[in-house]
Amino acid sequence: MSIELRPFTTEAEMKEYLDFATNDYGIAMYQAGEYPTLEVSHRASQEEVFSFYNTPKPGKAHYPFHIYSTADNARAGTLEMVTVERWGMLVGFVNFIYIAPEFRRKGYAMAAMTLMEDEVRKLKLNVIDLNVLIHRAGPQEMYKRLGYEVKRRWIGGYAQHITRVDMRKTLA
Ligand SMILES: CC(C)(COP(=O)(O)OP(=O)(O)OC[C@H]1O[C@@H](n2cnc3c(N)ncnc32)[C@H](O)[C@@H]1OP(=O)(O)O)[C@@H](O)C(=O)NCCC(=O)NCCS
Repeated sequence: MSIELRPFTTEAEMKEYLDFATNDYGIAMYQAGEYPTLEVSHRASQEEVFSFYNTPKPGKAHYPFHIYSTADNARAGTLEMVTVERWGMLVGFVNFIYIAPEFRRKGYAMAAMTLMEDEVRKLKLNVIDLNVLIHRAGPQEMYKRLGYEVKRRWIGGYAQHITRVDMRKTLA
């Protein structure tokens, strides 16, 4: 299995991705019990995503990629890394990773995360952060296997009930 990260090139790709990610996040928060109805969860998701993308911060930049399977030129998923200041340091932050169901458990996400490390190095950064909803055990296992360590568990931000796990990897 070999993959490539292909940067987005058009506004339309960004819009398609944001619609998808916002919807996915709304469902995840509802399933986690954060909001009483799916509709409320979608509204909250829209607000949070809008705020994240429209609040300028020093050093903030977005690096969204399609994940392609090179053998058959098939789009397997999406990964977005964002540079952002966290605790006074500019880091790469994994904002979104998604692999389409038919490609799952074949190593695509781990391969994409590994390729992303090179993108972070190109920017002369050596720390990658992410956070994951606590009930998502599969991804947490994957991040641990990739060398991410749990830094803290917290409740807050837009959501008032759900626990998130912050994880970090320092590149060698
Ligand atoms: C999480 C996700 C990106 C994983 O993609 P993937 O290509 O299937 O992951 P990989 O094949 O590279 O998995 C590597 C390892 O991670 C762990 N893992 C991944 N998904 C898992 C799951 N559903 N349950 C348990 N372990 C899982 C396993 O250790 C797996 O290795 P194994 O298959 O040898 O057991 C994919 O399931 C997805 O898109 N899910 C929906 C969105 C999501 O949850 N994104 C993460 C948000 S933090």
